[in-house]
Amino acid sequence: MIKKRILIIGSNGMLGQSLTTHFMFNKDVELMCASFENESFYDKVEYKKVDISSSKEVKILIKGFCPDAIINAAAYTNVDGCETEKELSWAINVTGVENIVKYGRTCDAHFIHISSDYIFDGKSGPYTEDEKPNPISHYGKEKLAAENVIKAGRIKHTVIRTNVLYGATQFGRPDFVKWVYNSLSEKKNIRIVKDQINNPTYIDDLSSAISKFIEFGKEGVYNIGGAETLSRIEFTYKIADYFNLDKSLITPIVTSDLNQPAPRPLNSGLINLKAETEVNYHPLTIDKTLFLMKQSLVKS
Ligand SMILES: NC(=O)c1ccc[n+]([C@@H]2O[C@H](COP(=O)([O-])OP(=O)(O)OC[C@H]3O[C@@H](n4cnc5c(N)ncnc54)[C@H](OP(=O)(O)O)[C@@H]3O)[C@@H](O)[C@H]2O)c1
Repeated sequence: MIKKRILIIGSNGMLGQSLTTHFMFNKDVELMCASFENESFYDKVEYKKVDISSSKEVKILIKGFCPDAIINAAAYTNVDGCETEKELSWAINVTGVENIVKYGRTCDAHFIHISSDYIFDGKSGPYTEDEKPNPISHYGKEKLAAENVIKAGRIKHTVIRTNVLYGATQFGRPDFVKWVYNSLSEKKNIRIVKDQINNPTYIDDLSSAISKFIEFGKEGVYNIGGAETLSRIEFTYKIADYFNLDKSLITPIVTSDLNQPAPRPLNSGLINLKAETEVNYHPLTIDKTLFLMKQSLVKS
């Protein structure tokens, strides 16, 4: 059997780590990982350092491996940073995607790109795939511009929109669940917004969905969100309840209290119906994901 050649770009990021562990032991896959750091966090994978904003580096990476599928999990993800570092973030989030499209096309690769609910204004979520984007932050504008580059790029593609990623990662910054767990375990007070609504997405659910899009060759725009739509404070209370932590340490606030440079879509979230019917996507409940994360949280 000919192995499928899969290239993960951004393999050291939060989603990238989940994707790496998802594919690294699959005997039917020849895996290449690439990210911004000099080395992979994982010993047992083929790895190349790449800066996706460099056309030359992307050309060498893609032409050298000639993948059947490219998953782009690399991005400049600091939403507030995008407001002040517009050139740098555009170079990664838009020009970087242009570079991948350009050379991915020459290998006839299936391009899987991760987009965001931040392409919407958050006035009328949860959103289907067909609703009209109206980004309110620079990050959201870049994510939408990247989608448009891909759609116009004459490449086989799947654009996956997701929101609020969480899940256990071995390396890098803690995800939201770990941050809440650690803060409350250490008896620290935390302030959490009550006016941002979405359906947080478990990274291993997203990785499994990506695997199906590749396997079935499904193209188009798809929402991949979590099983439950709730406010950030409800999510936080769920984490506290599940791990029996002190909820009195949690103070509800509203987004405007934070004075962040980038506006956030408030009433957001993504409707999963298309992915449910077309690729049998069925995300786990939050409680089930917290059960799966328990071991990594308690030992850290
Ligand atoms: N996290 C969320 O809640 C969320 C929600 C919706 C959509 N998304 C989208 O999902 C995708 C994955 O997000 P994530 O949370 O896993 O992101 P992440 O943890 O920030 O990881 C992004 C990865 O991209 C790498 N990277 C940055 N600039 C690069 C460059 N020029 N060339 C190559 N690699 C570069 C980063 O390396 P460094 O760490 O060294 O910079 C990092 O390893 C992104 O497209 C993001 O926009 C995320």
